Amino acid sequence: MAVDLLLGLQWGDEGKGKIVDVLTSNYNIIARFQGGPNAGHTLVFNGMKHVLHTIPSGIFHDDAVNLVGNGVVIDPVIFKRELDKLEEQNVDYRSKLIISRKAHLILPTHRLLDAASEAAKGKAKIGSTLKGIGPTYMDKTGRNGIRVGDIELKGWKKRYRNLANKHEAMISFHNVDIQYDLDELENEFFEALEVLKSLTFIDSEEYIFQAIKSGKSILAEGAQGSLLDIDFGTYPFVTSSNTTAAGACTGLGIAPNKIGDVFGIFKAYTTRVGSGPFPTELFDEDGETMARVGQEFGATTGRPRRCGWLDLVALKYACQVNGVTQLMMMKADVLSGFDKIKVCTSYQYKGEAIWHFPFNIDPENVTPNYIEMPGWSEDLTEMDDISQLPKTLNDYIDFLEKELDTPIKIVSVGPDRKQTIFR
Ligand code: IMP
Repeated sequence: MAVDLLLGLQWGDEGKGKIVDVLTSNYNIIARFQGGPNAGHTLVFNGMKHVLHTIPSGIFHDDAVNLVGNGVVIDPVIFKRELDKLEEQNVDYRSKLIISRKAHLILPTHRLLDAASEAAKGKAKIGSTLKGIGPTYMDKTGRNGIRVGDIELKGWKKRYRNLANKHEAMISFHNVDIQYDLDELENEFFEALEVLKSLTFIDSEEYIFQAIKSGKSILAEGAQGSLLDIDFGTYPFVTSSNTTAAGACTGLGIAPNKIGDVFGIFKAYTTRVGSGPFPTELFDEDGETMARVGQEFGATTGRPRRCGWLDLVALKYACQVNGVTQLMMMKADVLSGFDKIKVCTSYQYKGEAIWHFPFNIDPENVTPNYIEMPGWSEDLTEMDDISQLPKTLNDYIDFLEKELDTPIKIVSVGPDRKQTIFR
């Protein structure tokens, strides 16, 4: 059986958590393959909002196994907090949550190093979530990292100490004012590690091989978005993992020929949190309306998200890099009430119109060229069938499908599980 992938096509926060939750009943296994607690996947059902950071979004379903894959980086402290919340809600996670031994651990000093490195960058800061993501992946590729499987072995604490000492030296090298009490942070870390240790660790690639062989259905859940990919995103304003489809192969041990559908999720407009170029960003009332109606605040950091019109140049690029087979359009309800909807269909680049995503999309190089379409005023949030959607919204959808040459299979009209229209 093939493995389906679900990925964000913009700068993250597209609504991946909601759709994974909606689709989980079709799958035996939900697997996270990259990123870590920088993610904030929001799920709403039965009048309650749940935010997951590292735990896959299938955890609220009884029958699905939830796997944290080798490509993920885990902060035991944040992981424990997520488990505590699940416990409060009587979710029996022990029987259905498994963790790859090859996943890397985020140490307290990784978080401190992230903060020191950002502070040292000044105005050029990435706008990181400061969860220690970059430094942890640096240690992974630098072959210094500590993995989940290491904590089952003797002698790993010596390696831990050496690494933490090195991090402290690196922090002081940055010469910025970072206050911390490492003893306190380490107490919290080692306590949380004991909780992590009580969960099931597995050789996850073998688990995946066998699951595929025995016909189990698997959905790989991406985090962040394609434009934050370390290779294909707006470098250096990106995260430190491959958020695109290839990341699912390396982050779970799935061969490329085992990939089935690739579900690409995008908002009906665009948002970005943190620094970096954003050609269609709005600095006017329209942008403020999107932010207010869409409640555009980061689920992990609470920071306001920057908002702008849909960027088809960037979206096409993301569809191509990922091999998207089906699209899902989120937050269509947020655009209700705009007289006109704008869509960027090309960039003006060095005096010429271009249709591809170039090396540099800084504002001095790129300005968006827009087309305008009539908007809709109807409240979509109570609609549950495609036949109820306004004609102008259907025209918008038809236009995007044609431009992207890919069907839009889901239109989301609100944060709740139920506010999901299948086409
Ligand atoms: P980091 O991954 O925390 O180092 O952050 C790097 C960049 O990616 C920053 O601009 C963050 O705001 C952004 N980022 C990281 N994770 C997410 C996410 O889950 N959603 C949206 N943006 C994110």
